Amino acid sequence: MGDFLNSLLGPEAEELRLLARMSYLMIFMAVVTFFTLLFENVPYGRYSTTKFGFPVNVKLAWFVQELPAFVVPLFVVFWTSGAKLSQLPNQLLLLMYFCHYFQRSLIYPFLIRGGKSTPFASFAIAFVFCVYNGYLQGRYLSRYAEYPADWVTRPMFISGSVLWLVGFLINVHSDHILRNLRKPGETGYKIPFGGLFEYVSGANFLGEIIEWAGFALASQSVHSAAFAFFTLVVLSSRAVAHHRWYLEKFEDYPKSRKALIPFLF
Ligand SMILES: NC(=O)c1ccc[n+]([C@@H]2O[C@H](COP(=O)([O-])OP(=O)(O)OC[C@H]3O[C@@H](n4cnc5c(N)ncnc54)[C@H](OP(=O)(O)O)[C@@H]3O)[C@@H](O)[C@H]2O)c1
Repeated sequence: MGDFLNSLLGPEAEELRLLARMSYLMIFMAVVTFFTLLFENVPYGRYSTTKFGFPVNVKLAWFVQELPAFVVPLFVVFWTSGAKLSQLPNQLLLLMYFCHYFQRSLIYPFLIRGGKSTPFASFAIAFVFCVYNGYLQGRYLSRYAEYPADWVTRPMFISGSVLWLVGFLINVHSDHILRNLRKPGETGYKIPFGGLFEYVSGANFLGEIIEWAGFALASQSVHSAAFAFFTLVVLSSRAVAHHRWYLEKFEDYPKSRKALIPFLF
């Protein structure tokens, strides 16, 4: 099975080039997305609209759209020959990636309270992105990424891993705060307080941006940098949009609170 899949994926040098091209394409798509988001918010959650397709139940949408980000690399790691899987840096980087997507695809969707339905187009784009990125990160780290034996003791890896963990904890904690703003059955919006929400409107987004920036720092590859850049573009735009939305909606919204970067922006 593994050999069959490897033969399908072609010779190593060719696939490595393909993975690099996929990363450059992701960077290009992030730039296109940046300009698109100057005119339109990503249409899900509070910006949901039927203009982008029929509504998909929010829990189902998050579960199905995020699952490939967990399952595709899992498949790649266990059913294709992962020549670099015995290396500690590769194992730790894959662990970070899987830890996030285990939470995001198998826990987060089922905890959502009163979330808005997701328009089909947003759901479909997120699904495709998760397949694409799951293959890109999983295949590169399990088969191709080469690190020196002492990589895990180097400052880049240690600081990147710490950033990843701090970002992950901020992200999960902030999503927890948002979720608990609603009692079961409620669907409206309230002002979030606590954690990094004391400083920024997009605390959950800031956590996720830090997380993938740390991952990119620890892995030092164009593949992880492309993912971190894409995340930065999408989530910084969403943080700015949410911040404006809160200021318009709530007269008593804390005036010192920024959109994404405490005290600055
Ligand atoms: N890596 C990436 O590129 C990427 C992209 C997108 C999202 N994400 C991550 O996915 C997670 C969810 O993203 P999101 O864009 O859905 O976040 P969000 O807009 O902050 O919403 C998160 C959840 O909290 C609810 N909520 C938000 N603000 C609320 C408020 N003031 N009062 C009551 N409920 C509130 C939302 O309900 P409604 O649905 O009713 O608004 C939704 O269920 C985040 O952790 C984010 O970092 C990652």
